[in-house]
Amino acid sequence: MADSELILLLVSSILALFLIFIFFKRKQRRFNLPPGNMGWPFLGETIGYLRPYSATTIGEFMENHVSRYGKIYKSNLFGEPTIVSADAGLNRFILQNEGKLFECSYPRSIGGILGKWSMLVLVGDMHRDMRTISLNFLSHARLRTHLLREVEKHTLFVLNSWKENSVFSAQDEAKKFTFNLMAKHIMSMDPGKLETENLKREYVTFMKGVVSAPINLPGSAYRKALKSRSTILKYIEQKMKERIIIMEEGRDDMDQDDLLGWVLKHSNLSTEQILDLILSLLFAGHETSSVSIALSIYFLQRRTPRNCQSQEAIKSDGVELGRLQENGITQCVISETLRFGNVVRFLHRKALKDVQYNGYDIPCGWKVLPVIAAVHLDPSLFEHPQHFNPWRWQQLTRGPSSSSSSPISITNNHFMPFGGGSRLCAGSELAKLEMAVFIHHLVLNFQWELAEPDQAYAFPFVDFPKGLPIRVQRQNLI
Ligand code: HEM
Repeated sequence: MADSELILLLVSSILALFLIFIFFKRKQRRFNLPPGNMGWPFLGETIGYLRPYSATTIGEFMENHVSRYGKIYKSNLFGEPTIVSADAGLNRFILQNEGKLFECSYPRSIGGILGKWSMLVLVGDMHRDMRTISLNFLSHARLRTHLLREVEKHTLFVLNSWKENSVFSAQDEAKKFTFNLMAKHIMSMDPGKLETENLKREYVTFMKGVVSAPINLPGSAYRKALKSRSTILKYIEQKMKERIIIMEEGRDDMDQDDLLGWVLKHSNLSTEQILDLILSLLFAGHETSSVSIALSIYFLQRRTPRNCQSQEAIKSDGVELGRLQENGITQCVISETLRFGNVVRFLHRKALKDVQYNGYDIPCGWKVLPVIAAVHLDPSLFEHPQHFNPWRWQQLTRGPSSSSSSPISITNNHFMPFGGGSRLCAGSELAKLEMAVFIHHLVLNFQWELAEPDQAYAFPFVDFPKGLPIRVQRQNLI
């Protein structure tokens, strides 16, 4: 190509980009958009938004935006015009209008890695069907009859391996616990077995890709994760084939009463759909709970009088399902960990039509990010939000007339760690059960301290950069 042609091509491309930019600006003028900054063309403000920050804050970038523009502002994130909401009312409005005014809209890279049938990316009827299957499987009754026992067994499996005075990564141990539990619950795989360990190793590579930039180039974390995804799927498919043979021969027993058996018996899903469902439940049910457990270990480790008081109370708190719902101190520690640590910080939605909220327009097609972390850390909604104070939940949930022996359920409707509306987390009860049982046995049997300084960061996925190294001392026998 001659130099003059190259220059012509360059000039016309710049002109086209400029025209698109002008067109976009004109269109925006029709709307009363919230204040904000659209940043650079295409890149927008994504880099600033994704800069790591302490998980117990909303980060300097968002703090600056909220103080400059207010709790609802416009931006350009992930290549799309976006309304960011740190406003409790708007967040609730968005989640309650799922499918009517707003719709779940995760970046395409997430669909690429979790699969097109993953519940996190599905919308409409197919989402409803998959959700029904997951809810049945994670039902309250099942938790009571099957899972409570399993959760306890897997907790003790991990805690019993801890050696006095040794230093290890609490985050890795929490991951081991939730992975083992999910692998058992989903495909009846036993902890410590070669096949479980191989799957876990593959899954670690897979996870690195889920949290990495979606660059599909040789050697990139994303490319490696796509490879791991197909290895994991082949593995699950093999398990599925074996299970079908067992079922055809009438050899399936209660020991294998897992998700795989359940979907094969009770659903008409295709093989591809079953594989994506299993992979996405493994993902949804493993990462979030393990990070939440690591956060509890971190928050409770500080030797404050309030923490000592909480730990003493946890020891005498029951962990049976019934007691948990009664809002004992263990439940308060769980709520406070989720409020302060914010494992899931924001959700991805888009407007299905032009929407008006509090005088602002949210144009059809725009991305909308309800930032649940910003509400949980808002000083106008939670007193001293920067203090880890489980006891606040007992005050929040007791009416003035109720006695301390009759706690009532959580009424703070600004608290949404599990999302809300028709996409409310399907595994919230299991997650709380896992946290309760693990924390209970941990406090009962160990004292622990940080072996070296570490803290949770939001990348925006919450993670402890050093893996939360702790040193433990056993208190008595489990
Ligand atoms: C502390 C741990 C957990 C937290 C903080 C959490 C949080 C969330 C949130 C915020 C959502 C909503 C996503 C959205 O609206 O876009 C969600 C969805 C979901 N979660 Fe969880 N989750 C946790 C544990 C679990 C567990 C243990 C499971 C199951 C095994 C699970 C399964 C799911 C599923 C299947 C969905 C999709 C629901 C739907 O789209 O209808 N989660 N979770």
